[in-house]
Order: sequence, then structure tokens, then C-alpha cells
Amino acid sequence: MQLDGRTLLGDGQISGAALLPQPGGALHLLPHAELTWQHGRFTEIRALPSPPPTDAPLLLPGFVDLHCHWPQAHVRGQFAGQLLPWLRDAIWPAEAAFADLALARQHVRQFLAAITRAGTCAGLFFGSPFAESTPVFLEETPRGFLEGPAIMSQNAPKALLRPAQETLAMLHALHSRRVAIAPRFAPNVDLAGLRACGDAARATGWPVQSHLAENREEIAWVRQLFPDARDYTDVYDAAGLLGPRTVLAHGVHLADRELARLAATRTLVAHCPTSNEALGSGRMPIERLWAAGVPWVLATDVGAGPSLSQLHVMQRFLSVHAGHAPVRAGEALARATVIPGAWLAQFDPQLAGLGTLAVGAPAHVVAVTRPVGAPDDPELLLQALLAAGHGSLEALPTRVTLWGTVVSQAQ
Ligand code: GUN
Ligand code: ZN
Repeated sequence: MQLDGRTLLGDGQISGAALLPQPGGALHLLPHAELTWQHGRFTEIRALPSPPPTDAPLLLPGFVDLHCHWPQAHVRGQFAGQLLPWLRDAIWPAEAAFADLALARQHVRQFLAAITRAGTCAGLFFGSPFAESTPVFLEETPRGFLEGPAIMSQNAPKALLRPAQETLAMLHALHSRRVAIAPRFAPNVDLAGLRACGDAARATGWPVQSHLAENREEIAWVRQLFPDARDYTDVYDAAGLLGPRTVLAHGVHLADRELARLAATRTLVAHCPTSNEALGSGRMPIERLWAAGVPWVLATDVGAGPSLSQLHVMQRFLSVHAGHAPVRAGEALARATVIPGAWLAQFDPQLAGLGTLAVGAPAHVVAVTRPVGAPDDPELLLQALLAAGHGSLEALPTRVTLWGTVVSQAQ
């Protein structure tokens, strides 16, 4: 099946027990629901009075992933130490291959098939360092998939470098609503380039994505490269890169001042627990983000994250923070669906309702097998689902519907 977005927009119906994550983190359950959609959008969500058949599936909204690198999907789960050596030895050489646009197209197709099979129906993606591959991504992916090529102008192999101003001009020339401004991270972009990104963000209203305070060696490098900045967050702040349209991945090692600035500017943090585990970046102090009022979502960060599955991310999130912070499965689901969905919808009114099972929303549905004997309490039911294997590395939903079209179905 072609998933180019023009061939989707189907009609259909499914019934089962529906889990409805709420923006505040609460979780509601409709024990027996019938979801109907036409032309790719939900037209009716009906609560049925009868109990559901015992083999009825559990229905979840499609996942939204706001931090994931498509050019790393084929090397996910392969590591060479912590962040900086991993970037230099494994990731930058892997991304260099996408100067070949035929190869890029092949990988984007494989990536889209794999991520939708895992239940993710929309997101914000990091591309290759070559802006030439951005139109390839846009041609091959449906509405709701936004991409920004990794802007790199210094401190990396020469073949990957291009002034930020040039990459931004190439993005302008695409006349697309699905592009993002993506300075890779502070060490890879000169000060004038960061400022050009900030200016472009203000002028266009496009999303901004980057990385922040993932690793101590990285932070020390930033301090050396930007001696006039108060701290890492201040590098982006001074360039005009913070704000409600910006998502910064990680933020594991931040001072109180930095958390306060992120909260004051409504900058979104993408918490990537599986990536942090894989690269030994440390436990994200999620309780400090709660306390400071920093908005955050859950994301895969493939290829540091080993899996494209947001269910796997949720399962690891609960496990990593257990004993440190009172995390709940319902909050994890909200931060992988409705909360990132509302954030992404600010860039396209056609995405309103993204990450929910509500009338008018894009008809994205993830159906999974209900664990035998699972309780009816929604929090316990979701915990049982994650513990029963749906949270494992490569477990796939039973069926995924994207814009009203079934794109993956277990045999
Ligand atoms: N920091 C800069 N680039 C990257 C990347 O590709 N992955 C991760 N996890 N951190 C980064
Ligand atoms: Zn990343």
C-alpha cells in the first residue's frame, strides 16, 4: 500500500474497549465503544450499553512522536559508548550516506512502514544533514509528519557541513507547511547560524527542534564553545530559539534557572527514557520538570532509542522512574498521544484533535489485544497491557489505522 497521504482518507468502523487519555494526564475508559470514521476523520464515538465480547480489542489513539531521527532508524540499537563518540563513530557516518537521494527515498519508505506498524501516526522528525532529502520525506509521508534536516555548520566531518542560512533558504524554497528548523545541537552550529535559525523561526512560525543537556561531556563542550552564555539553555535563549513552537530533546542535566526559563517560555521538552538508558545519559529528573512546570512529552529518539514503539517508551518510562517519582501509565499515554498531538496541531488546523479518539479528529486508531483477566480500572488495565508484552521492544499492535485506512494488521 502507498502511504503518501493522497491514497489514505478511508471510511470504516471498529469496536472494543476504548482508552481515552486526557490532556491533564487522567485516563478514561469506555468499556464498549464503537468508533466510526468517514474520509479519514472520526464521525461518531458511541458508547454501547452491552458488555464487549471477550475477544474485543483495546483501542487507543494513534501515537505522536515529537523526537525521532528517520536517518538513524536502520542503525537503532547499535551503540559505541556515550553520546559524543556514538555521534562521531556511528551516527554521522550513517547519516552521510543520505547524500544519495535514491537511498534516502528507500529508507524513508522503510521508516514510514515501520513507525506506522508500531502505532505512530504523526510526529516531528529529524532528517539527514542534507536539506535535499527533506522533499523526499515530504513526498513519501502523509499529513502530520513534519521534518527538519539536521542543520550542522561546524565541528563535524566536512561532508555534513553547510551554513545554517543556506539550509534555511532551501527550506523556504519548498513552500511547505511540514518543515521544521532543526539546529542539530549547539556544538554543531555557529552563533550566527543559531541566530539565523531564531530569526527564521520568528518570521515563519515553523516548529524548532534541537537537543539540550543530554550528557555531561556535551555540556562541558558547550561551555567551552559559548563562554558568554550563562548555561546551555541560554545559548538557545539568546538566539531566540525558545518558545511554544520549540521542542528540545532530553534536558536531563539542567539547573533550576534553566528549568525556569523553559517553563517561562513554554518550551516543550521531549523526554526520551529509552535513549537515555541506551547511551547512559542518566535518569531524567522528571519530578523537577513537574515542580518547575516545564511542559514535556515522551518520545522515542530513534536511533539512540532502540525501538519506534511509544508503548515500549511508556513501559521503560514507568520502570526507569519507579521508586524515584510517582509516575502513572495514564500520564505516560497522554504524553505520547493527546499532549504531543495538540502541540503538533498548532502547525496545521487539519490536525485538530490529533492524539484523541474524538469526533472530527484524524481517524488514527491503535488496536491491541486485551490481556486476559486484565482489570477494568483504566490505570491498572494500561499497566497490565504494558507488562503483558505490548511494552516490549518489538511488540506490534494488532491493527493500526492511519487517516481511516488500515495500514498494518497482525496475521
Ligand atoms: N545530539 C546531537 N545529535 C544527536 C542525535 O542524533 N541523537 C541524540 N540522542 N543526541 C544528539
Ligand atoms: Zn535526538
